[in-house]
Amino acid sequence: MERNAVITGDGSVTLFSSETGEHYHSVHGAIQESRHVFIEAGLKQLKQPEHIHILEVGFGTGLNCLLTLAEPSVRAAEIHYLGIEPKPLTGEEVLMLNYCSSEAYAAFAPRFEQMHSFCRGSRLLRQGFTLGRVDVGIEQAVLESGFFNLVYFDAFSAEVQPALWEPAVFQKIRAAMQAGGILVTYAAKGSVRRALQQSGFVTNRLPGPPGKREMLQAIAY
Ligand SMILES: C[S@@+](CC[C@H](N)C(=O)[O-])C[C@H]1O[C@@H](n2cnc3c(N)ncnc32)[C@H](O)[C@@H]1O
Repeated sequence: MERNAVITGDGSVTLFSSETGEHYHSVHGAIQESRHVFIEAGLKQLKQPEHIHILEVGFGTGLNCLLTLAEPSVRAAEIHYLGIEPKPLTGEEVLMLNYCSSEAYAAFAPRFEQMHSFCRGSRLLRQGFTLGRVDVGIEQAVLESGFFNLVYFDAFSAEVQPALWEPAVFQKIRAAMQAGGILVTYAAKGSVRRALQQSGFVTNRLPGPPGKREMLQAIAY
């Protein structure tokens, strides 16, 4: 199989892709990393969190969507979440993920299953939370202009997928964002920072999750 399950440092599962030679998350802790990068430095930093329009580049396991759905501070918000994923998981791979076996996320198990029941189109996960899924790459995806106020940029690294970290991709994403919107990514490389700066973002280097010194938060202007 192209992808195998691996238990990470916090007990949550990630996948290892033999095609890219990379894990989907930090081996120090998948949930720990997703919380730190996407929820704490992204979702919880929105200034007006009543209407949240999220774009995720690399939907993968759906962990970031699950954590967003479960986040108590945005429970009353109207959330539109678009997950871009050209290589959706198989049903067998979804069964290997253990996120909903922890007490914190157990109640979300049916919705996690629903997230993976389609890879194109949209579904209401709960009142006020719509998930859209697209099964082509970010390069091909058609995005509404000026729509998103939060981007979870969670592609494989620039070492293995350099084209995804180029200004052409960030400019396309910027055009789909509102001014003041936030893009967060686990990456901190100078080349990624410069590509973001050339694409209409001001970048902030923030402390990374355990095992990683820094990460990037970029604000669209
Ligand atoms: C590091 S994994 C992270 C996945 C996910 N965010 C998660 O929490 O499981 C990167 C993901 O990007 C996807 N990907 C690969 N090429 C892509 C592309 N051109 N556009 C968008 N996503 C892509 C991969 O299939 C993979 O699911």
